[in-house]
Amino acid sequence: MNHIGIAGTGYVGLVTGVCLAEVGHHVTCLDISEEKIALLRSGKSTIFEPGLDEMLQKNIREERLHFTTDRTEAYHGKDMIFIAVGTPEGENGQADLSYVRQAAADIADTVTNDIIVVTKSTVPVGTNEMVEDIIRSQSTIDVHAVSNPEFLREGNAIYDAFHGDRIVIGGNHEPAVQKVAALYEPFDIPVVQTDTKSAELIKYASNAFLATKISFINEIANICEITGANVEAVAKGMGLDKRIGTQFLKAGIGFGGSCFPKDTKALTSMSAEAGYEFRMLNAVLEVNELQHNKLMEKANEYSAIHRGTKTAVLGLAFKPNTDDTRDSPAIHMIEELQRKGADIIAYDPIATDKMKAVFPDLTYTDSLEEALSGAETAFIITDWQQIKEQTPDFFTKLMKRPLIFDGRNCFDPGEMLSGGIHYHSIGRSGNSFRMSMST
Ligand SMILES: NC(=O)c1ccc[n+]([C@@H]2O[C@H](COP(=O)([O-])OP(=O)(O)OC[C@H]3O[C@@H](n4cnc5c(N)ncnc54)[C@H](O)[C@@H]3O)[C@@H](O)[C@H]2O)c1
Repeated sequence: MNHIGIAGTGYVGLVTGVCLAEVGHHVTCLDISEEKIALLRSGKSTIFEPGLDEMLQKNIREERLHFTTDRTEAYHGKDMIFIAVGTPEGENGQADLSYVRQAAADIADTVTNDIIVVTKSTVPVGTNEMVEDIIRSQSTIDVHAVSNPEFLREGNAIYDAFHGDRIVIGGNHEPAVQKVAALYEPFDIPVVQTDTKSAELIKYASNAFLATKISFINEIANICEITGANVEAVAKGMGLDKRIGTQFLKAGIGFGGSCFPKDTKALTSMSAEAGYEFRMLNAVLEVNELQHNKLMEKANEYSAIHRGTKTAVLGLAFKPNTDDTRDSPAIHMIEELQRKGADIIAYDPIATDKMKAVFPDLTYTDSLEEALSGAETAFIITDWQQIKEQTPDFFTKLMKRPLIFDGRNCFDPGEMLSGGIHYHSIGRSGNSFRMSMST
């Protein structure tokens, strides 16, 4: 059992803290937000994550998990301190490391014993060295920073903590690395041990690669639309090749979220700083931005949106099963609709509160029926199960004019058309398409 302090109780810090407590460690989570800490202390999660509330409450009850805004309580006398603070996009696309620097300075200020600092935040190459430098220069303690990037998928974070594909641990001080590796033994997940810089880069390379796959299939989708091919058939045919794989080949209106856009930009920026132009990633980002416009381009072809058009925006989260709206394609869509003067009603089963911070004056509903009632046009932005499980009937009964622009290919185009819906999706012709698997 280790005594662990965690800086930051966002998606990563909170899940890490809860899961380390679950396997028996004594964890104290620190955040600068009084509001978050008060909620967490009362056993309520600050984020939507399946299974998190139950595990949080259990570990608070069993006194392995504590929350505080007091640095001394979180850091003093601990075996290890995890840094899980945000690294948002800086002004020129680079990772903003101010929160990481502050956390390192706080540690230097508070800790009196030698310490292992484990960096979970996604940080550019050289950041762990920087963390060590800050702590050594501002205190008399000895410190070893270990890079341990996080690979959780929001919406599956608890599952991923216990069943992830790999745990990456990078460090140049073997005893510190071994201590961190031992921490993860109960999880029984393969460990990739590397030097610090490689571990830092693995995280960016992984996210940038996944983003590349998405932009690639979106380019294929665009070619499909011009040539009459069907992107789902193409993706299936490609993905069955094990060297390619089926995942992240789903065409749509582009990637969003708190990681892919910022991490892809940070890697291009980091490369440029190192004197190398990462040409391919620049294209990945450009394709993604263009893809965000796809639904509006289609709507324009049909002159669908005018001032006052009753328009339903279905889905606000950047993907299903999370309440995270950071960099969600819905933001771009709503801005475009507002520019055109549409009368918007926005639906999401759980992300409404987070989107209110971006668009406080928008009309929201947590009822899909209410969103569609009397709507002349609907845009599907997030492929929530609640949306995907509907039949054409559902839309025709509620909408004034059943015109749907689906950015996530939730429905079979043929079924929608025969159900009386003017249905437009990404990379598919209007024809019915059902994949048959004879392999
Ligand atoms: N969200 C994800 O799915 C995900 C996945 C993998 C990696 N990451 C990376 O993990 C890091 C954290 O991401 P997140 O989504 O959890 O961020 P977040 O914004 O949800 O949470 C960060 C938290 O840190 C707190 N904080 C800031 N400064 C602090 C300080 N000095 N001391 C204590 N707390 C402080 C903030 O108040 C906030 O609650 C980022 O680098 C991100 O790129 C995120």
